[in-house]
Amino acid sequence: MARAGVASRRKSETLISTGHVQVNGTVIRELGTKVTADDAIQVDGVAIQQEQFVYYLLYKPRSVVSTAHDDKGRRTVVDLLDDIDERIYPVGRLDYDTSGLLLMTNDGELANQLMHPKFKVDKTYVAKVKGVPTNDALEKLRHGLVVDGHKTSPAKSKLISVDHRKNTAIVQLTIHEGHNHQVKNMLTAVGFPVEKLRRDSYGPLTLDGLTSGDYRELKSVELEALRESISNKKGFRR
Ligand code: URA
Repeated sequence: MARAGVASRRKSETLISTGHVQVNGTVIRELGTKVTADDAIQVDGVAIQQEQFVYYLLYKPRSVVSTAHDDKGRRTVVDLLDDIDERIYPVGRLDYDTSGLLLMTNDGELANQLMHPKFKVDKTYVAKVKGVPTNDALEKLRHGLVVDGHKTSPAKSKLISVDHRKNTAIVQLTIHEGHNHQVKNMLTAVGFPVEKLRRDSYGPLTLDGLTSGDYRELKSVELEALRESISNKKGFRR
């Protein structure tokens, strides 16, 4: 009901427990009653329209904020998907100057599960760094290191290429945590500050076939794969 814009979550609960809500013609008073898109819901005899869940994959460009609103009036990822009727929002964040894969949806439950650390969804980033990371630095990232007072989980790290002339390198890093500026902080902590950062994958989802600024709906096999990627993790409840 809250999602359909009838009332706030709390007000909706009051409407249910005080007998204002009918499902398929029967008054229900039990909070948490499950309904599907096929059920007819009425509030005081007036039918409400359920919003369908939608899932979009966006190749976020740099210089766009990944919140729904920005105090400074900068362009947001929601502005980029302006032909979509549903109120969608990003699953997690990418920094203003980070590009790459961002999942956008109105399915709050899936979004919360994906962002919860216990589900350990792998995210792969490609960073251009200043300097050429040593084996020792890459090993530290694999092992886990203290950043901002907390120990990072072991990451996968790989040196992709080196530009000796410019003294820069491309590094691939896969992590499942999502602390603020985590990749930048990890690479800075081992001595290689990030000049550019892109997220190439999120769980089973990749940017394949998209260029910066593109977006498309998830295919049902991709959504299934995404659900699969968390369903066998400890603590999962459907
Ligand atoms: N890590 C970062 O440092 N920045 C991002 O945008 C995402 C992960």
